Amino acid sequence: MSTRKIAIFDTTLRDGEQSPGCSMKLHDKLLVASNLEALKVDVIEAGFAIASPGDFESVQAIANQVKTCTVASLARALKGDIDQAWAAVKGAAMPRIHTFLATSPVHMQFKLRMSPEQVLEQATNMVRYARSICPEVQFSLEDYTRTEEEFSWRVIEAVIAAGAKVVNLPDTVGYAIPEEFGARIARVMSHVPNITDATIAVHCHNDLGLAVANTLAAIRAGAGQAECTINGIGERAGNAALEEIVMALRTRHDFFEGLSCGVETTKIVSTSRCVCSVTGSRVQNNKAIVGQNAFAHESGIHQHGMLANRETYEIMTPESVGLSQSQMVLGKHSGKHALKDRLEQMGIPLSEEHLQELFTRFKDLADAKKVVTDADIEALARGLSQRPDSQQKLVFDRFLTSTGNTTTDVATVRLIVEGQQVEEVAMGNGPIEASFNAINKMLNLHVNVENFSVSAVTSNVDAQGECNLRVRHNQRVYLGRGVAQDIIEAAIRAYVHALNGLLEDEQRMTSNAAAMAAATAGSSLV
Ligand code: KIV
Ligand code: ZN
Repeated sequence: MSTRKIAIFDTTLRDGEQSPGCSMKLHDKLLVASNLEALKVDVIEAGFAIASPGDFESVQAIANQVKTCTVASLARALKGDIDQAWAAVKGAAMPRIHTFLATSPVHMQFKLRMSPEQVLEQATNMVRYARSICPEVQFSLEDYTRTEEEFSWRVIEAVIAAGAKVVNLPDTVGYAIPEEFGARIARVMSHVPNITDATIAVHCHNDLGLAVANTLAAIRAGAGQAECTINGIGERAGNAALEEIVMALRTRHDFFEGLSCGVETTKIVSTSRCVCSVTGSRVQNNKAIVGQNAFAHESGIHQHGMLANRETYEIMTPESVGLSQSQMVLGKHSGKHALKDRLEQMGIPLSEEHLQELFTRFKDLADAKKVVTDADIEALARGLSQRPDSQQKLVFDRFLTSTGNTTTDVATVRLIVEGQQVEEVAMGNGPIEASFNAINKMLNLHVNVENFSVSAVTSNVDAQGECNLRVRHNQRVYLGRGVAQDIIEAAIRAYVHALNGLLEDEQRMTSNAAAMAAATAGSSLV
Protein backbone atom coordinates (compact mmCIF):
# COMPACT_ATOMS: atom_id res chain seq x y z
CA MET A 1 0.00 0.00 0.00
CA SER A 2 1.43 3.39 -1.01
CA THR A 3 1.38 6.15 1.59
CA ARG A 4 1.02 9.84 0.81
CA LYS A 5 1.22 12.76 3.22
CA ILE A 6 -1.17 15.53 2.27
CA ALA A 7 0.15 19.04 2.91
CA ILE A 8 -2.34 21.30 4.67
CA PHE A 9 -2.20 24.87 3.36
CA ASP A 10 -4.14 27.21 5.60
CA THR A 11 -5.47 30.42 4.07
CA THR A 12 -7.53 31.70 7.01
CA LEU A 13 -5.37 34.81 7.16
CA ARG A 14 -5.72 35.55 3.44
CA ASP A 15 -8.85 34.12 1.78
CA GLY A 16 -10.55 33.80 5.19
CA GLU A 17 -9.82 37.41 6.00
CA GLN A 18 -11.46 38.42 2.71
CA SER A 19 -14.88 37.33 3.99
CA PRO A 20 -17.18 40.18 4.99
CA GLY A 21 -16.61 41.24 8.57
CA CYS A 22 -13.62 38.93 9.10
CA SER A 23 -10.83 41.48 8.91
CA MET A 24 -8.23 41.11 11.63
CA LYS A 25 -5.69 43.38 13.25
CA LEU A 26 -1.97 42.57 13.38
CA HIS A 27 -2.08 41.34 16.97
CA ASP A 28 -5.02 39.04 16.10
CA LYS A 29 -3.27 37.69 13.02
CA LEU A 30 -0.16 36.87 15.04
CA LEU A 31 -2.34 35.03 17.54
CA VAL A 32 -4.04 33.03 14.77
CA ALA A 33 -0.64 32.29 13.19
CA SER A 34 0.71 30.92 16.47
CA ASN A 35 -2.37 28.70 16.80
CA LEU A 36 -1.88 27.45 13.23
CA GLU A 37 1.74 26.66 14.01
CA ALA A 38 0.70 24.68 17.10
CA LEU A 39 -1.90 22.93 14.92
CA LYS A 40 1.04 21.87 12.70
CA VAL A 41 -0.34 22.98 9.35
CA ASP A 42 2.29 22.81 6.62
CA VAL A 43 1.77 26.24 5.06
CA ILE A 44 0.31 29.47 6.42
CA GLU A 45 -0.83 31.89 3.74
CA ALA A 46 -0.31 35.05 5.76
CA GLY A 47 -1.91 37.57 3.41
CA PHE A 48 -1.66 39.49 0.15
CA ALA A 49 1.39 41.67 0.72
CA ILE A 50 0.65 44.25 -2.00
CA ALA A 51 -2.97 44.79 -0.94
CA SER A 52 -2.17 47.50 1.63
CA PRO A 53 0.65 48.64 3.95
CA GLY A 54 -1.23 46.89 6.79
CA ASP A 55 -1.28 43.60 4.87
CA PHE A 56 2.41 43.92 4.10
CA GLU A 57 3.20 44.57 7.75
CA SER A 58 1.22 41.56 8.93
CA VAL A 59 2.68 39.15 6.35
CA GLN A 60 6.15 40.31 7.35
CA ALA A 61 5.46 40.00 11.08
CA ILE A 62 4.03 36.48 10.64
CA ALA A 63 6.99 35.49 8.45
CA ASN A 64 9.34 36.61 11.22
CA GLN A 65 7.37 34.92 13.99
CA VAL A 66 6.60 31.48 12.52
CA LYS A 67 9.42 28.94 12.68
CA THR A 68 8.04 25.53 11.75
CA CYS A 69 5.61 26.18 8.87
CA THR A 70 6.14 27.59 5.41
CA VAL A 71 4.83 31.17 5.22
CA ALA A 72 3.34 32.30 1.90
CA SER A 73 2.17 35.62 0.50
CA LEU A 74 -0.26 35.88 -2.38
CA ALA A 75 0.78 37.91 -5.45
CA ARG A 76 -0.87 38.51 -8.80
CA ALA A 77 1.34 37.38 -11.69
CA LEU A 78 2.88 40.82 -11.86
CA LYS A 79 6.46 41.79 -11.12
CA GLY A 80 5.50 44.50 -8.59
CA ASP A 81 3.27 42.10 -6.65
CA ILE A 82 5.93 39.42 -6.62
CA ASP A 83 8.58 41.86 -5.37
CA GLN A 84 6.29 42.98 -2.54
CA ALA A 85 5.46 39.37 -1.65
CA TRP A 86 9.14 38.50 -1.50
CA ALA A 87 9.99 41.58 0.58
CA ALA A 88 7.30 40.47 3.07
CA VAL A 89 8.18 36.75 3.34
CA LYS A 90 11.93 36.73 2.88
CA GLY A 91 12.53 36.70 6.66
CA ALA A 92 10.59 33.44 7.03
CA ALA A 93 12.33 30.17 7.91
CA MET A 94 10.53 28.67 4.87
CA PRO A 95 9.23 31.40 2.54
CA ARG A 96 6.88 30.84 -0.42
CA ILE A 97 5.51 33.15 -3.10
CA HIS A 98 2.02 32.19 -4.25
CA THR A 99 1.30 33.83 -7.58
CA PHE A 100 -1.84 33.43 -9.67
CA LEU A 101 -3.49 34.24 -12.99
CA ALA A 102 -6.93 33.35 -14.27
CA THR A 103 -7.19 30.75 -17.04
CA SER A 104 -10.93 30.39 -17.72
CA PRO A 105 -12.36 31.90 -20.93
CA VAL A 106 -14.68 34.23 -19.03
CA HIS A 107 -11.89 35.59 -16.82
CA MET A 108 -9.34 35.88 -19.63
CA GLN A 109 -11.77 37.68 -21.94
CA PHE A 110 -13.63 39.99 -19.56
CA LYS A 111 -11.35 40.49 -16.57
CA LEU A 112 -7.84 40.20 -17.96
CA ARG A 113 -8.55 41.09 -21.59
CA MET A 114 -5.77 38.71 -22.55
CA SER A 115 -5.61 35.87 -25.06
CA PRO A 116 -4.84 32.32 -23.83
CA GLU A 117 -1.35 32.59 -25.35
CA GLN A 118 -0.68 35.84 -23.48
CA VAL A 119 -1.87 34.24 -20.24
CA LEU A 120 0.40 31.25 -20.81
CA GLU A 121 3.37 33.53 -21.43
CA GLN A 122 2.68 35.84 -18.49
CA ALA A 123 2.22 32.89 -16.10
CA THR A 124 5.47 31.26 -17.23
CA ASN A 125 7.49 34.47 -17.09
CA MET A 126 6.21 35.44 -13.66
CA VAL A 127 6.83 31.98 -12.18
CA ARG A 128 10.35 32.09 -13.59
CA TYR A 129 10.83 35.57 -12.13
CA ALA A 130 9.44 34.57 -8.71
CA ARG A 131 11.67 31.49 -8.73
CA SER A 132 14.72 33.67 -9.39
CA ILE A 133 14.19 35.43 -6.04
CA CYS A 134 12.38 32.89 -3.84
CA PRO A 135 13.25 29.22 -3.32
CA GLU A 136 9.62 28.04 -3.32
CA VAL A 137 6.95 29.18 -5.75
CA GLN A 138 3.32 28.16 -6.06
CA PHE A 139 1.20 29.02 -9.08
CA SER A 140 -2.62 29.03 -9.13
CA LEU A 141 -4.76 28.81 -12.26
CA GLU A 142 -7.59 30.99 -10.99
CA ASP A 143 -11.06 29.68 -11.97
CA TYR A 144 -9.49 26.36 -12.95
CA THR A 145 -12.79 24.45 -12.82
CA ARG A 146 -14.18 26.59 -15.66
CA THR A 147 -10.92 26.42 -17.61
CA GLU A 148 -10.74 24.45 -20.84
CA GLU A 149 -8.95 21.24 -19.84
CA GLU A 150 -6.34 20.97 -22.57
CA PHE A 151 -5.33 24.59 -22.05
CA SER A 152 -4.97 23.95 -18.30
CA TRP A 153 -2.55 21.05 -19.00
CA ARG A 154 -0.38 23.34 -21.16
CA VAL A 155 -0.29 25.99 -18.41
CA ILE A 156 0.48 23.43 -15.70
CA GLU A 157 3.32 21.90 -17.72
CA ALA A 158 4.78 25.32 -18.55
CA VAL A 159 4.74 26.68 -14.98
CA ILE A 160 6.28 23.48 -13.64
CA ALA A 161 9.02 23.77 -16.25
CA ALA A 162 9.50 27.41 -15.14
CA GLY A 163 10.09 26.29 -11.55
CA ALA A 164 6.73 26.09 -9.73
CA LYS A 165 6.95 23.49 -6.96
CA VAL A 166 3.22 23.59 -6.29
CA VAL A 167 0.46 24.10 -8.86
CA ASN A 168 -2.91 24.95 -7.39
CA LEU A 169 -6.14 24.19 -9.23
CA PRO A 170 -8.82 26.28 -7.54
CA ASP A 171 -12.56 25.93 -7.75
CA THR A 172 -12.74 29.70 -7.43
CA VAL A 173 -16.50 29.99 -7.82
CA GLY A 174 -17.51 26.76 -6.05
CA TYR A 175 -18.80 25.20 -9.26
CA ALA A 176 -17.37 21.68 -9.17
CA ILE A 177 -19.08 18.39 -8.35
CA PRO A 178 -16.94 15.81 -6.48
CA GLU A 179 -16.92 12.98 -9.07
CA GLU A 180 -16.28 15.43 -11.90
CA PHE A 181 -13.54 17.29 -10.00
CA GLY A 182 -11.81 14.07 -8.94
CA ALA A 183 -11.84 12.87 -12.56
CA ARG A 184 -10.36 16.17 -13.77
CA ILE A 185 -7.53 15.93 -11.23
CA ALA A 186 -6.87 12.33 -12.28
CA ARG A 187 -6.59 13.48 -15.91
CA VAL A 188 -4.11 16.21 -14.88
CA MET A 189 -2.01 13.51 -13.19
CA SER A 190 -1.99 11.40 -16.36
CA HIS A 191 -1.79 14.08 -19.08
CA VAL A 192 0.86 16.52 -17.83
CA PRO A 193 4.26 15.03 -18.72
CA ASN A 194 6.33 16.68 -15.93
CA ILE A 195 3.63 16.32 -13.22
CA THR A 196 5.96 14.40 -10.88
CA ASP A 197 8.18 17.48 -10.56
CA ALA A 198 5.45 19.35 -8.64
CA THR A 199 2.68 18.91 -6.12
CA ILE A 200 -0.89 19.48 -7.24
CA ALA A 201 -2.96 21.54 -4.81
CA VAL A 202 -6.69 22.24 -4.69
CA HIS A 203 -8.52 25.24 -3.25
CA CYS A 204 -12.28 24.83 -3.17
CA HIS A 205 -14.97 27.39 -2.46
CA ASN A 206 -18.25 26.39 -0.91
CA ASP A 207 -20.91 28.05 -3.07
CA LEU A 208 -22.76 24.74 -3.54
CA GLY A 209 -21.80 23.39 -0.12
CA LEU A 210 -19.36 20.94 -1.77
CA ALA A 211 -15.96 22.43 -0.93
CA VAL A 212 -14.86 19.68 1.46
CA ALA A 213 -16.30 16.89 -0.73
CA ASN A 214 -14.50 18.31 -3.78
CA THR A 215 -11.23 18.61 -1.84
CA LEU A 216 -11.43 15.01 -0.65
CA ALA A 217 -12.24 13.76 -4.17
CA ALA A 218 -9.21 15.63 -5.50
CA ILE A 219 -6.95 14.21 -2.79
CA ARG A 220 -8.05 10.68 -3.71
CA ALA A 221 -7.29 11.44 -7.34
CA GLY A 222 -3.72 12.55 -6.63
CA ALA A 223 -3.70 16.09 -5.21
CA GLY A 224 -1.00 16.44 -2.57
CA GLN A 225 -1.96 19.76 -0.98
CA ALA A 226 -5.35 20.82 0.39
CA GLU A 227 -6.07 24.52 0.80
CA CYS A 228 -8.54 25.37 3.49
CA THR A 229 -9.50 27.71 6.30
CA ILE A 230 -10.43 27.34 9.94
CA ASN A 231 -14.23 27.19 10.33
CA GLY A 232 -14.45 27.33 6.51
CA ILE A 233 -14.39 31.14 6.47
CA GLY A 234 -13.60 32.84 3.16
CA GLU A 235 -14.98 34.70 0.16
CA ARG A 236 -18.79 34.43 -0.24
CA ALA A 237 -19.86 30.98 1.08
CA GLY A 238 -16.33 30.35 2.30
CA ASN A 239 -13.56 27.82 1.67
CA ALA A 240 -13.21 24.14 2.49
CA ALA A 241 -13.07 23.82 6.28
CA LEU A 242 -9.70 22.57 7.53
CA GLU A 243 -11.19 20.72 10.49
CA GLU A 244 -13.59 18.76 8.25
CA ILE A 245 -10.92 17.69 5.75
CA VAL A 246 -8.50 16.65 8.47
CA MET A 247 -11.05 14.74 10.54
CA ALA A 248 -12.47 13.01 7.44
CA LEU A 249 -8.98 11.77 6.51
CA ARG A 250 -8.40 10.58 10.05
CA THR A 251 -11.81 9.12 10.87
CA ARG A 252 -12.17 7.36 7.50
CA HIS A 253 -8.57 6.20 7.13
CA ASP A 254 -10.07 2.89 6.02
CA PHE A 255 -11.47 4.66 2.94
CA PHE A 256 -8.61 7.15 2.44
CA GLU A 257 -6.14 4.31 2.63
CA GLY A 258 -2.51 5.39 2.93
CA LEU A 259 -3.41 9.11 3.05
CA SER A 260 -2.58 11.18 6.11
CA CYS A 261 -1.64 14.68 7.20
CA GLY A 262 0.47 16.05 10.02
CA VAL A 263 -2.19 18.18 11.77
CA GLU A 264 -2.30 17.99 15.55
CA THR A 265 -6.04 17.42 15.77
CA THR A 266 -6.28 18.13 19.51
CA LYS A 267 -5.62 21.80 18.70
CA ILE A 268 -8.59 22.09 16.35
CA VAL A 269 -11.15 23.42 18.83
CA SER A 270 -8.84 26.02 20.39
CA THR A 271 -7.80 27.27 16.95
CA SER A 272 -11.43 27.44 15.85
CA ARG A 273 -12.35 29.43 18.97
CA CYS A 274 -9.44 31.75 18.46
CA VAL A 275 -10.60 32.49 14.89
CA CYS A 276 -14.18 33.06 16.11
CA SER A 277 -12.96 35.52 18.68
CA VAL A 278 -10.64 37.54 16.54
CA THR A 279 -13.14 37.83 13.69
CA GLY A 280 -16.17 38.23 15.92
CA SER A 281 -17.96 35.58 13.77
CA ARG A 282 -19.19 32.49 15.53
CA VAL A 283 -19.83 29.15 13.81
CA GLN A 284 -23.37 27.78 13.70
CA ASN A 285 -24.27 25.34 16.49
CA ASN A 286 -24.51 22.34 14.16
CA LYS A 287 -21.23 23.06 12.32
CA ALA A 288 -19.31 19.80 11.83
CA ILE A 289 -16.41 19.20 14.25
CA VAL A 290 -16.36 22.63 15.93
CA GLY A 291 -20.03 23.60 16.38
CA GLN A 292 -21.40 23.75 19.89
CA ASN A 293 -23.60 20.69 19.22
CA ALA A 294 -21.08 18.67 17.21
CA PHE A 295 -20.59 16.25 20.11
CA ALA A 296 -23.87 16.80 21.99
CA HIS A 297 -26.27 13.89 22.23
CA GLU A 298 -29.72 15.15 23.07
CA SER A 299 -32.28 12.44 22.34
CA GLY A 300 -33.02 9.73 24.90
CA ILE A 301 -32.27 6.89 22.47
CA HIS A 302 -28.90 8.38 21.59
CA GLN A 303 -28.02 9.01 25.23
CA HIS A 304 -28.94 5.45 26.11
CA GLY A 305 -26.73 4.12 23.32
CA MET A 306 -23.86 6.41 24.31
CA LEU A 307 -24.01 5.24 27.92
CA ALA A 308 -23.85 1.62 26.78
CA ASN A 309 -21.00 2.25 24.33
CA ARG A 310 -19.82 5.61 22.96
CA GLU A 311 -19.24 4.10 19.53
CA THR A 312 -22.98 3.64 19.00
CA TYR A 313 -23.34 7.29 18.02
CA GLU A 314 -19.81 8.70 18.09
CA ILE A 315 -17.49 8.27 15.08
CA MET A 316 -14.72 10.35 16.65
CA THR A 317 -14.10 11.39 20.23
CA PRO A 318 -14.43 14.98 21.44
CA GLU A 319 -10.96 14.58 22.96
CA SER A 320 -9.47 13.92 19.50
CA VAL A 321 -10.35 17.50 18.46
CA GLY A 322 -9.31 19.02 21.78
CA LEU A 323 -12.67 19.10 23.49
CA SER A 324 -11.42 17.49 26.67
CA GLN A 325 -13.85 18.43 29.40
CA SER A 326 -12.79 21.48 31.39
CA GLN A 327 -9.65 20.37 33.06
CA MET A 328 -8.52 22.43 36.02
CA VAL A 329 -5.21 23.72 34.88
CA LEU A 330 -4.31 26.42 37.35
CA GLY A 331 -5.69 27.75 40.60
CA LYS A 332 -5.45 30.86 42.73
CA HIS A 333 -2.15 29.77 44.21
CA SER A 334 -0.47 29.42 40.81
CA GLY A 335 2.26 31.88 39.98
CA LYS A 336 3.04 33.91 36.88
CA HIS A 337 5.55 31.34 35.64
CA ALA A 338 2.99 28.57 35.66
CA LEU A 339 0.58 30.77 33.75
CA LYS A 340 3.27 31.71 31.23
CA ASP A 341 4.17 28.03 30.72
CA ARG A 342 0.54 27.09 30.21
CA LEU A 343 0.03 29.91 27.69
CA GLU A 344 3.09 28.81 25.76
CA GLN A 345 1.81 25.23 25.62
CA MET A 346 -1.46 26.62 24.29
CA GLY A 347 0.40 28.51 21.57
CA ILE A 348 -0.27 31.96 23.05
CA PRO A 349 3.03 33.76 23.52
CA LEU A 350 2.60 37.08 25.33
CA SER A 351 4.78 40.11 25.94
CA GLU A 352 5.80 40.80 29.56
CA GLU A 353 3.25 43.64 29.86
CA HIS A 354 0.41 41.57 28.43
CA LEU A 355 1.36 38.69 30.69
CA GLN A 356 1.20 40.95 33.75
CA GLU A 357 -2.23 42.20 32.68
CA LEU A 358 -3.48 38.67 32.09
CA PHE A 359 -2.05 37.49 35.40
CA THR A 360 -4.00 40.16 37.29
CA ARG A 361 -7.23 39.15 35.51
CA PHE A 362 -6.45 35.45 36.10
CA LYS A 363 -5.99 36.03 39.85
CA ASP A 364 -9.33 37.87 40.04
CA LEU A 365 -11.00 35.03 38.18
CA ALA A 366 -9.36 32.34 40.31
CA ASP A 367 -10.68 34.16 43.39
CA ALA A 368 -14.21 34.27 42.04
CA LYS A 369 -14.51 30.93 40.28
CA LYS A 370 -13.99 27.43 41.63
CA VAL A 371 -12.39 25.99 38.51
CA VAL A 372 -10.23 27.90 36.04
CA THR A 373 -9.99 25.93 32.82
CA ASP A 374 -7.81 26.17 29.72
CA ALA A 375 -10.82 27.63 27.92
CA ASP A 376 -11.04 30.40 30.56
CA ILE A 377 -7.39 31.28 30.18
CA GLU A 378 -7.64 31.22 26.41
CA ALA A 379 -10.67 33.50 26.53
CA LEU A 380 -8.90 35.94 28.84
CA ALA A 381 -5.97 36.02 26.42
CA ARG A 382 -8.32 36.65 23.48
CA GLY A 383 -9.85 39.51 25.46
CA LEU A 384 -6.51 41.35 25.63
CA SER A 385 -6.13 44.31 23.31
CA GLN A 386 -3.36 44.64 20.78
CA ARG A 387 -1.51 46.99 23.11
CA PRO A 388 -1.28 46.64 26.86
CA ASP A 389 -3.61 48.82 28.95
CA SER A 390 -0.75 51.16 29.83
CA GLN A 391 -0.64 52.24 26.16
CA GLN A 392 -4.40 52.55 25.57
CA LYS A 393 -6.35 55.81 25.48
CA LEU A 394 -9.32 54.21 27.28
CA VAL A 395 -9.08 51.65 30.05
CA PHE A 396 -12.10 50.11 31.76
CA ASP A 397 -12.12 50.80 35.49
CA ARG A 398 -15.51 49.99 37.07
CA PHE A 399 -19.25 50.06 36.57
CA LEU A 400 -22.47 49.97 38.54
CA THR A 401 -25.91 49.30 37.15
CA SER A 402 -29.40 49.53 38.51
CA THR A 403 -31.66 47.23 36.59
CA GLY A 404 -34.96 45.39 36.86
CA ASN A 405 -38.08 44.55 34.89
CA THR A 406 -40.09 47.44 36.32
CA THR A 407 -37.52 50.25 36.36
CA THR A 408 -35.52 52.19 33.80
CA ASP A 409 -32.01 50.82 33.60
CA VAL A 410 -29.27 53.15 34.73
CA ALA A 411 -25.50 52.65 34.50
CA THR A 412 -22.54 54.46 35.97
CA VAL A 413 -19.28 53.72 34.19
CA ARG A 414 -15.81 54.84 35.12
CA LEU A 415 -12.99 54.73 32.59
CA ILE A 416 -9.41 55.90 32.73
CA VAL A 417 -9.23 58.29 29.79
CA GLU A 418 -5.62 59.14 28.96
CA GLY A 419 -4.60 58.58 32.56
CA GLN A 420 -7.55 60.46 34.16
CA GLN A 421 -10.54 58.89 35.90
CA VAL A 422 -13.77 59.93 34.18
CA GLU A 423 -17.21 58.80 35.31
CA GLU A 424 -20.64 59.20 33.68
CA VAL A 425 -24.20 58.10 34.34
CA ALA A 426 -26.81 57.30 31.66
CA MET A 427 -30.06 55.47 31.11
CA GLY A 428 -30.84 52.91 28.42
CA ASN A 429 -32.86 49.93 27.33
CA GLY A 430 -31.13 47.39 29.51
CA PRO A 431 -27.94 47.73 31.53
CA ILE A 432 -25.65 47.22 28.54
CA GLU A 433 -27.17 49.97 26.45
CA ALA A 434 -27.17 52.24 29.52
CA SER A 435 -23.44 51.54 30.01
CA PHE A 436 -22.65 52.26 26.35
CA ASN A 437 -24.67 55.49 26.59
CA ALA A 438 -22.63 56.54 29.62
CA ILE A 439 -19.41 56.01 27.65
CA ASN A 440 -20.80 57.88 24.62
CA LYS A 441 -21.71 60.79 26.89
CA MET A 442 -18.25 60.84 28.43
CA LEU A 443 -16.53 60.85 25.01
CA ASN A 444 -19.18 62.82 23.13
CA LEU A 445 -19.38 60.02 20.56
CA HIS A 446 -22.13 58.73 18.27
CA VAL A 447 -21.49 55.27 16.87
CA ASN A 448 -23.58 52.31 15.73
CA VAL A 449 -23.14 48.96 17.43
CA GLU A 450 -23.62 45.90 15.19
CA ASN A 451 -23.34 42.13 15.50
CA PHE A 452 -23.52 42.19 19.25
CA SER A 453 -23.21 38.72 20.78
CA VAL A 454 -22.48 37.29 24.21
CA SER A 455 -21.61 33.66 24.82
CA ALA A 456 -20.43 31.55 27.71
CA VAL A 457 -16.80 30.40 27.63
CA THR A 458 -17.57 27.16 29.48
CA SER A 459 -20.87 25.46 30.27
CA ASN A 460 -21.10 26.04 34.02
CA VAL A 461 -23.30 28.68 35.64
CA ASP A 462 -20.21 30.51 36.87
CA ALA A 463 -18.85 30.66 33.30
CA GLN A 464 -17.13 33.77 32.01
CA GLY A 465 -19.02 35.67 29.34
CA GLU A 466 -17.32 36.61 26.09
CA CYS A 467 -18.76 39.55 24.20
CA ASN A 468 -18.06 40.32 20.54
CA LEU A 469 -19.37 43.37 18.73
CA ARG A 470 -18.68 45.75 15.89
CA VAL A 471 -18.79 49.51 16.02
CA ARG A 472 -19.42 51.46 12.82
CA HIS A 473 -18.28 55.06 12.56
CA ASN A 474 -17.86 57.12 9.38
CA GLN A 475 -18.13 53.98 7.16
CA ARG A 476 -15.37 52.25 9.13
CA VAL A 477 -15.85 49.16 11.23
CA TYR A 478 -14.00 48.36 14.48
CA LEU A 479 -14.20 44.99 16.22
CA GLY A 480 -14.47 44.77 19.97
CA ARG A 481 -14.03 41.81 22.25
CA GLY A 482 -14.30 41.56 26.01
CA VAL A 483 -14.20 38.75 28.53
CA ALA A 484 -15.35 38.87 32.14
CA GLN A 485 -17.32 36.86 34.61
CA ASP A 486 -20.02 39.51 34.54
CA ILE A 487 -21.57 39.83 31.09
CA ILE A 488 -22.17 43.56 31.48
CA GLU A 489 -18.48 44.02 32.22
CA ALA A 490 -17.62 41.80 29.22
CA ALA A 491 -19.80 44.03 27.02
CA ILE A 492 -18.24 47.25 28.37
CA ARG A 493 -14.77 45.84 27.83
CA ALA A 494 -15.70 44.88 24.25
CA TYR A 495 -17.08 48.37 23.61
CA VAL A 496 -13.97 50.02 25.05
CA HIS A 497 -11.81 47.70 22.92
CA ALA A 498 -13.60 48.76 19.72
CA LEU A 499 -13.48 52.45 20.69
CA ASN A 500 -9.73 52.27 21.31
CA GLY A 501 -9.36 51.03 17.70
CA LEU A 502 -11.54 53.89 16.50
CA LEU A 503 -9.64 56.55 18.47
CA GLU A 504 -6.29 55.17 17.32
CA ASP A 505 -7.47 55.32 13.71
CA GLU A 506 -8.71 58.89 14.11
CA GLN A 507 -5.44 59.94 15.65
CA ARG A 508 -3.52 58.34 12.78
CA MET A 509 -5.71 60.09 10.20
CA THR A 510 -5.29 63.44 11.95
CA SER A 511 -1.51 63.12 12.08
CA ASN A 512 -1.39 61.98 8.41
CA ALA A 513 -3.47 65.01 7.45
CA ALA A 514 -1.18 67.28 9.51
CA ALA A 515 1.92 65.77 7.87
CA MET A 516 0.36 66.26 4.41
CA ALA A 517 -0.52 69.87 5.23
CA ALA A 518 3.03 70.51 6.48
CA ALA A 519 4.51 68.91 3.35
CA THR A 520 2.24 70.96 1.07
CA ALA A 521 3.08 74.17 2.96
CA GLY A 522 6.79 73.30 2.70
CA SER A 523 6.62 72.64 -1.03
CA SER A 524 4.82 75.90 -1.76
CA LEU A 525 7.63 77.79 -0.01
CA VAL A 526 10.26 76.28 -2.29
O1 KIV B 1 -10.31 31.24 -5.06
C1 KIV B 1 -9.25 31.42 -5.69
O2 KIV B 1 -9.11 31.14 -6.87
C2 KIV B 1 -8.16 32.03 -4.95
C3 KIV B 1 -6.84 32.07 -5.66
C4 KIV B 1 -6.17 33.37 -5.52
C5 KIV B 1 -6.01 30.92 -5.20
O3 KIV B 1 -8.31 32.41 -3.81
ZN1 ZN C 1 -10.15 31.51 -2.92
